[in-house]
Amino acid sequence: MIINPQRAEYLLTHGEIVALPTETVYGLAASIFDIQALHKIFITKERPLFDPLIVHVSNLNMAKNLTDSWNELEVFLANKFWPGPLTFIKNKNDKVNDMITASLPSVGVRCPNHPIMLQIINNINQPLAAPSANKFKSTSPTNAQHVEDEFESNVAVVDGGNCNIGIESTIIEIFQSLDLQNKRYEIKIYRPGIITKEQLSSCLSQTSWSDTQINYSASSVAPGQLKEHYRPKKPITAYLVPLNKLSNFVGTLEDGQIQALTLEITLAARQLYSHIREADLLSKKSELKLYFPLEHWLNPEWYPIRERLEKACSKIINL
Ligand code: TXA
Ligand code: MG
Repeated sequence: MIINPQRAEYLLTHGEIVALPTETVYGLAASIFDIQALHKIFITKERPLFDPLIVHVSNLNMAKNLTDSWNELEVFLANKFWPGPLTFIKNKNDKVNDMITASLPSVGVRCPNHPIMLQIINNINQPLAAPSANKFKSTSPTNAQHVEDEFESNVAVVDGGNCNIGIESTIIEIFQSLDLQNKRYEIKIYRPGIITKEQLSSCLSQTSWSDTQINYSASSVAPGQLKEHYRPKKPITAYLVPLNKLSNFVGTLEDGQIQALTLEITLAARQLYSHIREADLLSKKSELKLYFPLEHWLNPEWYPIRERLEKACSKIINL
């Protein structure tokens, strides 16, 4: 059911959940102060309570109000990338309910770059907890119709158009060395996103934090990063093919062939979930196929997409 932003504000302040657009994927939102609405998120998504939610704020001060203090590197990165697809894991204070964090002492927080979402947070003046608006383990939605399809029109959704980024935010946690004379930081990336390791590293290269270590790392505490995720109803087999042979593999959606992604990473990210959902809906076959360039599979810049495919596909075959 499509609703307007004013109606969404009313519902969010009266115990309800609402799907809202962000620049990454659509989120299923509830006020962080409404325990029953938070519970509805888990029920609606069929999501286990052990998987923590991300809290969305409209500015850094709202984030600081929910966590312990922010160090200078965190402030620098928030100023650089917010509003935008970067989530910080921070120690929470007691304004953040345990249901949001699955009883972890830390919380994920980000300021999304979508005018509708930002305006709603500002107008109701409450941070919003919002996981992606899909059933547990399923493909994330990147437009309002995807949300309608996912929940069979049983969830109210504000239509904010197609998501500009198309894959979920980069999640980081920043650690500080104990040696106070020689303050050094390490950034752990728990979930790759369109803000890549290379991009973080290059934006620090001209600063006094140029020796910061940046590593991909599984979060030791959050079990949210499952092996199977982002999955459509029909199983996908991905075939890795050299770029110059890609055009040999033409097929139709009816045949279960997912449309080839553009050769530019940011555009490909924007298409990824949408192409998967389209084939899932239109295929007459019980399985889907995706032909993906081997060169991109092996290219670190494309790792955010590879990581999604490794979880979304049931088989990956090197042709
Ligand atoms: O782009 C995004 O981040 C989207 C939009 C809606 O903002 N949200 C999103 O939420 O992807 P979700 O629930 O699908 O993924 C949240 C993931 C969890 O599965 C977990 O891996 C991680 O964020 N997370 C949340 N809180 C955490 C914590 N305290 N420590 C480590 N990881 C955490
Ligand atoms: Mg999700």
